[in-house]
Amino acid sequence: MMEATSFSFPAKTRDIDKHMKSYNIAVIGGDGTGPEVVRETIKVLNVAAKKFNLKLNYTDYDLGGDRYLRTKEALPDSVLAELRKFPAILLGAIGHPDVQPGILEKGILLRIRFELEQYINLRPVKLYDERFCPLKNKKPEHIDFVVVRENNEGLYTGSGGFTYKGSPHEVALQASISTRPGVERCLRYAFDLTRKRNKEKKLTLCGKTNVLTFAFDLWERAFHEIGQKDYPDIKRDYAHVDATTMWFVKNPEWFDVIVTDNMFGDIITDLGAMVQGGMGIAAGGNINPKGTSMFEPIGGSAPKYTGQGVINPLAAICAGQMMLDFLGETKAAQAIENAVIKITREKIKDLAAGKMGFNTSQVGDLVAGAL
Ligand code: IPM
Ligand code: MN
Repeated sequence: MMEATSFSFPAKTRDIDKHMKSYNIAVIGGDGTGPEVVRETIKVLNVAAKKFNLKLNYTDYDLGGDRYLRTKEALPDSVLAELRKFPAILLGAIGHPDVQPGILEKGILLRIRFELEQYINLRPVKLYDERFCPLKNKKPEHIDFVVVRENNEGLYTGSGGFTYKGSPHEVALQASISTRPGVERCLRYAFDLTRKRNKEKKLTLCGKTNVLTFAFDLWERAFHEIGQKDYPDIKRDYAHVDATTMWFVKNPEWFDVIVTDNMFGDIITDLGAMVQGGMGIAAGGNINPKGTSMFEPIGGSAPKYTGQGVINPLAAICAGQMMLDFLGETKAAQAIENAVIKITREKIKDLAAGKMGFNTSQVGDLVAGAL
């Protein structure tokens, strides 16, 4: 269709091309089922691109356990330098059964998050259909909140070490770093998002001020100072992290936007993922608001399901949706979300791998079709 048109009206088509928005996207399929879910995401993104007149240019990067085992290098500096040039990265999964835990996670995933200053880990928790919620009597209107996880500090900086390693007196120290600028930029992002969402205009700080009296004292002071001065329209709320997990199960409808540190954010968002229906649907964005952001399904590489075509690609597709939203293509992003909602309500039996009633590629086709 496009070709025929361009043949008959070359000048006009050139004009359209000139106005077509074009985005360069780095693609890291990664390990395990990563490449399978990324394939379906690109299928859906291409349909959205056609519909909304966008041009998406993909560049594949071979990173992950296989490359590491082959080359002994997780992420070459030259590749990291190339990744910086993209506005967005689409990531499948990192984690390989033959590589010792920590090497790929720190060497690829965390290195990209840190070096590209993706200081926000954005994780929406949204229930699309009552059937997928493990909680009794909770419906989509009860579960719709966003966790803003600080993504560059806390316990994840690798600060610390061993003394007398291997001896009976061995000491391990793992420090949690909270800097005022690091905390402040994260809080500001969360306040801005709460305002933009315009739902309840409520931001909950999730911390542990009763025990971590240094780190969360800083967080809490910054939270109230910034909130009072620059966001008087946003209600400020606080919950300890342990209580937060309780409320996620008991009263998830209380939350609008939650902001928290790196470690607590890691933990509560796995619970959040379960509440919204599991790893088959949970997506996240590692955001550098002024640089390269990276979008990923938050479940792992699922080695046991690799290559069987049973993994649910919806989480990765939702990550693709978040990516378009980040790029400013809000209409295309909304259309993908609507398609996901429609097929999860009307077609998908279960969000878990192997129980969807369709294989991986058919689920991609369903979303593409619904678009
Ligand atoms: C996540 C993951 C990572 C994290 C791991 C794989 C390093 O659990 O994205 O939540 O802890 O951040
Ligand atoms: Mn995690």
